[in-house]
Amino acid sequence: MTATLLRGRLLGFVRRPENMDDRDSYAYEDDGGLLIEDGRIAAAGPYADVLAAAPADVDEIDHRPFLIMPGFIDTHVHFPQMQVIGAYAANLLEWLNTYTFPEECRFVEPEHAARIARHFYDEMLRHGTTTAAAYCSVHKASADAYFTEALKRGMCMIGGKVMMDRNAPQGLLDTPQMGYDETRAVIAEWHGKGRNHVAITPRFAITSTPAQMEMTATLAREFPDLHIQTHLSENDEEIRFTAELYPEAVDYTDVYARYGLLGPKSLFGHCIHLSEREADAMSEADAVAIHCPTSNLFLGSGLFPLKALSRREKPVRVGLATDVGGGTSYSMLKTLDETYKIQQLLGERLNPFESFYHMTLGNAEAVSLSDRIGTLEPGTDADLVVLDAAATPAMALRMEVVRSLADELFLLQTLGDDRAVRETYVAGKAMKAAL
Ligand code: GUN
Ligand code: ZN
Repeated sequence: MTATLLRGRLLGFVRRPENMDDRDSYAYEDDGGLLIEDGRIAAAGPYADVLAAAPADVDEIDHRPFLIMPGFIDTHVHFPQMQVIGAYAANLLEWLNTYTFPEECRFVEPEHAARIARHFYDEMLRHGTTTAAAYCSVHKASADAYFTEALKRGMCMIGGKVMMDRNAPQGLLDTPQMGYDETRAVIAEWHGKGRNHVAITPRFAITSTPAQMEMTATLAREFPDLHIQTHLSENDEEIRFTAELYPEAVDYTDVYARYGLLGPKSLFGHCIHLSEREADAMSEADAVAIHCPTSNLFLGSGLFPLKALSRREKPVRVGLATDVGGGTSYSMLKTLDETYKIQQLLGERLNPFESFYHMTLGNAEAVSLSDRIGTLEPGTDADLVVLDAAATPAMALRMEVVRSLADELFLLQTLGDDRAVRETYVAGKAMKAAL
């Protein structure tokens, strides 16, 4: 058995912080030790205690003075959109039709899908992201490429072949039967293989006919434990068009509810403009609203009411995500920065502990995987990130006057990016140095 002992400053959350002074919501060790055995966390705590209990031949890696945290989790990202990040468009539908749909057509070529998948995982690891929930393209080959690469790297990844059968170029359309058959094939080949999780992935109501939504409903009934991911209430014109396409639904959320797609493993990208009725429906179903701040600002979609949704009498579960390529950064640190600024514009405060909770344990809870990832609890997978809040000259200068952990975290989210990520561990293996 191989054992590795990491030494550094340990920070892991045990629940959502209620305020800045909620010291019980996280565990912090100034001189911490984290013992890894067989890809899992065997112990975490004061360095001296963990060392005393470690095997005599343990390999030790000294990460002082850096912070060791659970790896970041990105709960909504599009891997076939790496080459359309930052494409100039007025709004969501123009961006999809002008750049994104044509780009995704290229994934009919397995070699292209395999190449972009390699780049995608490189970027995830460079930015400290150890788990993501991704949309592949409509082509089964894109899902094969995505999960092949996850398996190679030993990463815990969620993903799905997108289903879409209208309102897009011919090269990007399946049919209700094809979407069903290929999703079943992806599940059979990939779900549970390594650390892979397949998600049922109808792109959004606009690109699925009612017949395809019926097939999606069948899949959801046949595979009740799988994640479901789609888009909801992102843009005014999208909402209007959806109402036109599904006149029988009382609102956008109801379109998905009618097909049995609202449940605790349902991840709804955006959810910016939900009515009170829709938020109630999401809450009652325990469904998750995924906030994608850099995308929402870039496409001018709107300001997601994160704090307001979280403190409702019927709270809505929330996850944070990059939404690359509508999103403009792979960095979850940058994503926190923009999350913070959007709450500022809404007159709300998001403290740094809450932010870092969201990116780790909070997102693990959002994707129902907190028994495995997002924490430093013994027994969970050793997916970790090592962070340096003085990674650039500007950060180092600012750090000279930082006196508290809260201020250090806030600096990391405000000025940090991939340069602040010194190392990324996947199941106990250092991955960033090897890139
Ligand atoms: N709605 C449907 N597809 C997409 C997509 O690829 N990106 C975003 N941001 N919204 C969508
Ligand atoms: Zn998206």
